[in-house]
Amino acid sequence: MHATTQAVREMYSAFPYPAGGPTLRQGTDARLLLSYVERSRQAGRAIHVLDAGCGRGVGLIGAASTQPDVDFLGVDLCRQALLDAEREVQRRGLANVRLAELDLMTLAGLEVPAGGFDVILSSGVVHHLVDPLAGLTRLADVLAPHGVLSLMVYGRHGRESLYRVVRAIDALAPRGLPLRERLKWGRELVASIDSPAFTSGPWNDLRDVSEVEFVDRYLNVNETSYDVPALFTLLERAGLEFVRWTEPQDWRLDTLLPPGALLERARTLAPRAQFELIDALTWRPALELVACKRGNTPRAPFAGDERDALAWSPEATLRVERRNLRGAQRTESLALQIRRREPVQLTSGPLAQAVLAVEQQQDAFALADLVEALGERGISAAAAREAAFELVRLEALYRPHLADV
Ligand SMILES: C[S@@+](CC[C@H](N)C(=O)[O-])C[C@H]1O[C@@H](n2cnc3c(N)ncnc32)[C@H](O)[C@@H]1O
Repeated sequence: MHATTQAVREMYSAFPYPAGGPTLRQGTDARLLLSYVERSRQAGRAIHVLDAGCGRGVGLIGAASTQPDVDFLGVDLCRQALLDAEREVQRRGLANVRLAELDLMTLAGLEVPAGGFDVILSSGVVHHLVDPLAGLTRLADVLAPHGVLSLMVYGRHGRESLYRVVRAIDALAPRGLPLRERLKWGRELVASIDSPAFTSGPWNDLRDVSEVEFVDRYLNVNETSYDVPALFTLLERAGLEFVRWTEPQDWRLDTLLPPGALLERARTLAPRAQFELIDALTWRPALELVACKRGNTPRAPFAGDERDALAWSPEATLRVERRNLRGAQRTESLALQIRRREPVQLTSGPLAQAVLAVEQQQDAFALADLVEALGERGISAAAAREAAFELVRLEALYRPHLADV
């Protein structure tokens, strides 16, 4: 094992990441991820997901507990973290999760399903590898041709203020010292003085964070962070294609720039240059995206074919306020939230009716079914179709591949 990998392993073994418990993360629903690309898997075969660098299984277990028919394999370098994950898997009685200790730099010992993994999740890991390109290329090699990678790496611009703290600690307690000693000096330093490096910017909670979080952020033995050009170069060299940002809303010029000449000028830039501009302006601390293998492509936009399958997105939350009024139930308000975006209030009308017609549908349905259901509520086919388009645009509805319904 490479000496740097060994040092990363020792660090995460002493401080298994993260401190919190399992949560359901955005960007971990297999069918939703698979719906973002044009190629589809063969129907009838189980969906295989790899969590590359699962740590204590926070994202993995959250995802596996809501997708019991999907097969999950979590791998990590750190045995301590895997033992914590295993305990949680047992406690929850999850039969669809396996765990394995291995080094992502070699993938030696990895059991690859025939045809490759349908989905690979990797959050906060590739940037800790001794050679991120070699590691990502290995992951691309075990991804199925129709497969999808959900990736999060650190954003360089967004972490700049964090790196000021790192530099201060490095100066006071150089990297050669034992980690616990560096931790002691680092914590004492940030607690003792009111430097703007510690009190300003988005990382100003550093006095209150757990030891695990402090080590991960400020004492990490190996990390590379990315700006947009570096990230796209990394993907390209690994044989991967950008599909979308996990939250495309964060990467839209019109939510950032006022309407007018400035916005028009920015829109003339090539898509990647637009992303570069947005990153330069908004300093994203994490770059979260979906990628696929070269040869696959992002899915063509919804064209409204009556036979298209639609499904309620697992990343949509609906807040419904209902009142019982003398036997009749009245919906007082409806708010639709996609991921962590601002909730959209839906007033009465076809859109609200469409949401109420499908909100409890657990299975996929055809566009024609929605048109029919709204027809029964007195809504025209044209208005129903328009509502369906709007719900797809908002990402409340998504389009599972037929193999995945
Ligand atoms: C910041 S943690 C993220 C854990 C998890 N993905 C999450 O989001 O909670 C980084 C993880 O990557 C793992 N890791 C780092 N280098 C690795 C390698 N070469 N092979 C396998 N795992 C590695 C660490 O052990 C650690 O658990």
